[in-house]
Amino acid sequence: MARELRGRSFLTLADFAAEEITALLDLADELKRERAAGKLRDTHAGKTLALLFQKPSLRTRASFDVAMHELGGHAFYLGPEEVGVGKREAPRDVATVLSRYVHGIMARVFGHEIVEELAEYADCPVINGLSDLYHPCQVLADLQTIRERLGKFEGFTLVYVSDGNNVANSLLVGGALVGLNVTILTPAGYEPPAEVVAQAQGLAAASGAAIATTNDLSAVNGADVLYADVWASMGQEAVATEKKKAFEGYTINEELMAAAAPHAILLHCLPAHHGEEITEEVARGPQSAIWDEAENRLHAQKALLATLL
Ligand code: CP
Ligand code: NVA
Repeated sequence: MARELRGRSFLTLADFAAEEITALLDLADELKRERAAGKLRDTHAGKTLALLFQKPSLRTRASFDVAMHELGGHAFYLGPEEVGVGKREAPRDVATVLSRYVHGIMARVFGHEIVEELAEYADCPVINGLSDLYHPCQVLADLQTIRERLGKFEGFTLVYVSDGNNVANSLLVGGALVGLNVTILTPAGYEPPAEVVAQAQGLAAASGAAIATTNDLSAVNGADVLYADVWASMGQEAVATEKKKAFEGYTINEELMAAAAPHAILLHCLPAHHGEEITEEVARGPQSAIWDEAENRLHAQKALLATLL
């Protein structure tokens, strides 16, 4: 598997086959166990990863930096002010130049076409660290967390309660690939793009996963995983007030949590807006796997870097 994936970019989970995702999750588990035992793999000495950001970040920046360091390599941060991808310099020129210095580029961007252009022109793998369309690294860690807590994907249902955004889209694609049922629950008008839902339904034909969207809050009944994300994503600050109104009642609180299965776990990609899409009680409650999920960004991305770079 490692040979086949080496050198490839990761812009969406659909870039990988289901077996390749499973192999990455297996490696992520192995790296997590090794790290807990105090062992690190020094396989990437002399390799450098560029961390290119158009938007803010805590988890993505910190976990990629630490992952690269723990593999024996090096990472450096390029913020929006210094590079100005698409403003100061065309994405294709940034990709061509960075490729002369580094062995991989992790990019967090607004338009998904920017990571596509970076990948087209870079001579090294490009990893999507969040675009307006997808957040595949997040969902890789989410899948690791779900399998760690529930043991498998088949037969389980994840209900995502928020906006039909980048995280929702990657959950649809990821669930469809690995055989996890995914329901995206949003207020009317905030559903994920129809093309993404159709793509996920196509991928689900092989895995048997059930892919659905709904506006009906009773969809949380009996769910095995509840998942929250902010209502207004980065870049949507202008419509945050309007969204707060539209999403009234879509807060994951103790009442909604109680409607899920008794063994249900709660996920949130973070950052959280406590009191909006989630309450602090449930985020820090007994069913929350949110903090393990955030930790797993490190292990899942380390597996990705070890395999692609
Ligand atoms: N979940 C996530 O990507 O967090 P950051 O925006 O802090 O990187
Ligand atoms: N949907 C959120 C995810 C943050 C990690 C955003 O794009 O801001």
